[in-house]
Amino acid sequence: MKNIAVIGGGTMGRGIAYVAGVSGFNVSLYDVSTAALDNAKHYIEGELTRSVEKGYIDQEQKDMATGNLVYCTDLVEAVRDADFVIEAVLELMDVKIDVFKKLDQYAPAHAILATNTSTMSPTEIAAQTSRPEKCLAMHFFNPPHKMKLVEIVRGLDTSDETVAITKEVARQMKKESVEVNEFPGFVTSRMNCLIGNEAMYMLMEGVASAEDIDKAIKLGLNHPMGPLELADLVGLDSRLRNMEYLYKMLGEKYRPCPLLVKYVKAGRLGRKTGGGFYKYDNQ
Ligand code: NAI
Repeated sequence: MKNIAVIGGGTMGRGIAYVAGVSGFNVSLYDVSTAALDNAKHYIEGELTRSVEKGYIDQEQKDMATGNLVYCTDLVEAVRDADFVIEAVLELMDVKIDVFKKLDQYAPAHAILATNTSTMSPTEIAAQTSRPEKCLAMHFFNPPHKMKLVEIVRGLDTSDETVAITKEVARQMKKESVEVNEFPGFVTSRMNCLIGNEAMYMLMEGVASAEDIDKAIKLGLNHPMGPLELADLVGLDSRLRNMEYLYKMLGEKYRPCPLLVKYVKAGRLGRKTGGGFYKYDNQ
């Protein structure tokens, strides 16, 4: 596995591309939006510079990663030589299926096709391709270069070889992995979405301020981040899509909190728009 293509250059795709580039893979990052691709390039270059300043990587690694990364607006070109493709587009089944059909058509026959979905069925996505044995979910966490875990989720037809190769790719990216059988939300999103939704209900019910809810969970339960600041980091639009899917699949306990729905309608999407449960200075 030398060549990785990352499809979607938003919050997760740009971070996955960064990790893959620093880990020595040749990376092509594709997005339908040139603005998203420009933002991704700006973000990755900024992170590389910051990582050198903080001593996480040296100048040589930065230069190697910069040389490893290519930004593409043409999907055919992005995946033509790929050994391993990681899809990180919107959490909408129709969009993912459309992307996977194209990946199946344009990527080499040996390429593994992984989805970074937080909640959805890799079996359903894989079924639209001619290579379900080479499809699975490889779920990174936000931000991908800081979070240690990758959840590897088998679809019904995922082969042992595909799982083994994906574990090795994760290892080369210096990630720990867990293997999970397919179920909506896997292990992490199933848990995290519930905690976040409950925190939003508490805020809506006036139980405590956002700051105090987060402080209580951090200092009382030893979570590194509060659930509301984490939701802002994830993106409230992404979180709402996760909740809507889990609500559809798992029922009432995942009904999205009305406050979350209201914020998304207002365009308050968290860090990426400068405001969610907190305000951010995006300069
Ligand atoms: P995002 O909204 O930040 O980025 C999505 C990107 O996909 C955008 O740049 C958009 O232009 C692009 N896109 C849309 N349709 C496309 C297409 N057909 N082809 C290529 N690019 C396309 O979304 P985010 O948050 O990065 O989520 C991506 C995936 O990662 C989702 O499945 C999400 O559930 C998952 N995820 C998100 C996490 C988070 O904290 N935001 C954490 C772990 C997984």
